Amino acid sequence: MDGIEKRDRLIRSWMEEAAQKIQQHASADPVVEEKTGRKDLVTNMDREIEQFFVEKIKKEYPAERIYGEEGFGDEVNDLSGIVWFVDPIDGTLNYVLQKENFAIMLGVYEDGEGRMGYIYDMNTQSLYSAIKGKGIFKDNEPFAVPTDQKLSDGLLASSSLLMTDDRFEQHRDVAKKTLGVRMIGSAGLEILEVLKGNVVGYMAASLEPWDIAPGKVMMDEAGICCTQFNGEDVNLLRKNRVLFAYPTAYREMMDSFSEN
Ligand code: IPD
Ligand code: CA
Ligand code: CA
Repeated sequence: MDGIEKRDRLIRSWMEEAAQKIQQHASADPVVEEKTGRKDLVTNMDREIEQFFVEKIKKEYPAERIYGEEGFGDEVNDLSGIVWFVDPIDGTLNYVLQKENFAIMLGVYEDGEGRMGYIYDMNTQSLYSAIKGKGIFKDNEPFAVPTDQKLSDGLLASSSLLMTDDRFEQHRDVAKKTLGVRMIGSAGLEILEVLKGNVVGYMAASLEPWDIAPGKVMMDEAGICCTQFNGEDVNLLRKNRVLFAYPTAYREMMDSFSEN
């Protein structure tokens, strides 16, 4: 991929600008609409921020495709060439109900391979990023990630669906082997919890491509495992059940699934 440094500079400035736009509207109640139901919401800010990214990307890189949650990008049915993944607000339910605990996410892939991943934590106003082969950064500083962690010595992050749906009994059995479960409700922030070593892993039953793509670049760069529950590679063209975990914790989780 050409011009990585320029891309990184641009993406960082767009992420900052997007965060400022959300901040400026912090005191106003968003206009909320249901998508597939009461738990699946979209707001005027989700739309405005995605449109903002689409405009910026198309102006600089008109030949590249954009796979965005709110549909302002392209219809993407394959991952050939350069594809941008955009999740304008990750944790929209939190944004509406809590006004905190949400993130902005963007990933750049080339022929299906992760190249650049960005997660902006709106709580702390910190930008985490990874560029394939160049490491992980918090704002402009290199960010050190633990090398490995065991399941039994740490905490585990989970999507709420895994805790509430009868189909995931064996995942709750895995959770019992840890020191405790943590749930935030933003895949991006949960992936950052893994990256910081605050949890040994994150398991989520239903993640869309834009929920996974930015964080997967970080996980790959840090040597943290990221696969579907059955061990297969994630598929960035549809929903996935995903495990993000340090190598030892990942093996212990997979062993536990196969015992059941
Ligand atoms: C959602 C959040 C949530 C996860 C859902 C995602 P959205 O993203 O990341 O934590 O459990 O599966 O869809 O819809 O708020 O961008
Ligand atoms: Ca999301
Ligand atoms: Ca979203």
